[in-house]
Amino acid sequence: MGRMISTDVHNEEEKKLEATLRPQMLDDYIGQSRIKEMMKVYIAAAKSRSESMDHVLFYGPPGLGKTTLSGIIANEMGVNMKVTSGPAIEKPGEMAAILNNLQPGDVLFIDEIHRLNRQVEEVLYPAMEDFAIDIMLGKEASARSIRLDLPHFTLVGATTRAGLLSAPLRDRFGIVEKMEFYTTEELMTIVKRSAKVLNVEIDDSGAERIARRSRGTPRLANRLLKRVRDFAQVRYDGKITRDVADYALDILDVDKKGLDQNDRAYLLTIIEKFGGGPVGIDTIAASLSEDAGTLEDVVEPYLLMNGLIQRTARGRVATESAYRHLGIERLGQQQLDL
Ligand code: ADE
Repeated sequence: MGRMISTDVHNEEEKKLEATLRPQMLDDYIGQSRIKEMMKVYIAAAKSRSESMDHVLFYGPPGLGKTTLSGIIANEMGVNMKVTSGPAIEKPGEMAAILNNLQPGDVLFIDEIHRLNRQVEEVLYPAMEDFAIDIMLGKEASARSIRLDLPHFTLVGATTRAGLLSAPLRDRFGIVEKMEFYTTEELMTIVKRSAKVLNVEIDDSGAERIARRSRGTPRLANRLLKRVRDFAQVRYDGKITRDVADYALDILDVDKKGLDQNDRAYLLTIIEKFGGGPVGIDTIAASLSEDAGTLEDVVEPYLLMNGLIQRTARGRVATESAYRHLGIERLGQQQLDL
C-alpha cells in the first residue's frame, strides 16, 4: 500500500546526504518555530531535573523533519538515539529486546508508529508508563509473568496522522505535536544552508525558485537542490540562478506551485472524471489505483493548505484555484445541464 506515491528516503546515497544536511542542534533547526520553542523548554527542564524527557509524538506529512527533531532531542540531551519503525518490529519479543538494550536516557525513535501491530504495541504500554516490561513465562496453567525494569528513556513516535494511532498508545505520549509545512522563506534558508554544505554556489533568486517549488517540504527542497545542481554544472556555469532552477524544475515536471505528477493526477481525476467533485476519497483512490490513506496523508494536505481542494461532507471538490492553476476552464452549471 502506498508504494507508488512516496516522499520517503529511497536510497542509501540520499540517506547519507540527508544525514549531512540535517541540523544537529535546535539552534540550527529552521522552521517549526512553535515546536522549537516548546522543545527548548522541555529539554532544559528535563536536563535540570536529570530526567529523560517525556515521550513525544510528532505527526504530519512526510519530509517535514520528524526524524531530524528526534535526533536533535537526543543530541541536546546528550544521549544516543535508536531508530526503528512500526513495520520493522513484527513480534513482541523483538520490541522487548529493543527496549531492554536501551541505555539510561536514550531516545527510541519509532517511525510510522501507527503500523505497530497490537501485540507489539502492548509491550510498549508498561514500558512507556512504568519503564518496565512484562515477560510471560510458562504455558497455560503454569503461566505467570515477571516484570523486568527498564532504564528510563524517551520514546519519540512519528506518524503521518495522529488519528491512525490507537487511543491507548496516543494517550501515553505526554507531548503531541503537529508538524507544519514550511514557508518559502524558511525553505530558502534551508536551501542556502544545504548549498553551502554541498559546496555549490546559489543566489537568492535560485534559492527562492527551489523553495517555492518544494511543496513546503525540506526533504523535497534538498532533493531538488541536488538535481538543479546537476543541471547547473552540466548545462550552465555551475552557479544556481533563477534561470537554471526554472529550467531544471520544468524538466523535472515540478510546476510553479511545486505540484508534482501525483498532485496533478489527483486534481485532474476530480476535474475530468468527476466533474470537479464532490467525489469520495475512495472513488478517487480507486480511479488512480492508489491507496486512499496515502492520498489523505501525503497528497491532500498540501493541496488543502494551498486551497486547491476542499473537503466537504459529500467528498472532495476542486476549487476555482485548481482549475486556474491547471489552465482548465470550468463549465458553468447551465452548460453542464445542457
Ligand atoms: N534540513 C532539513 N530540514 C531542516 C531544517 N528544518 N532546518 C535546517 N536544515 C534542515
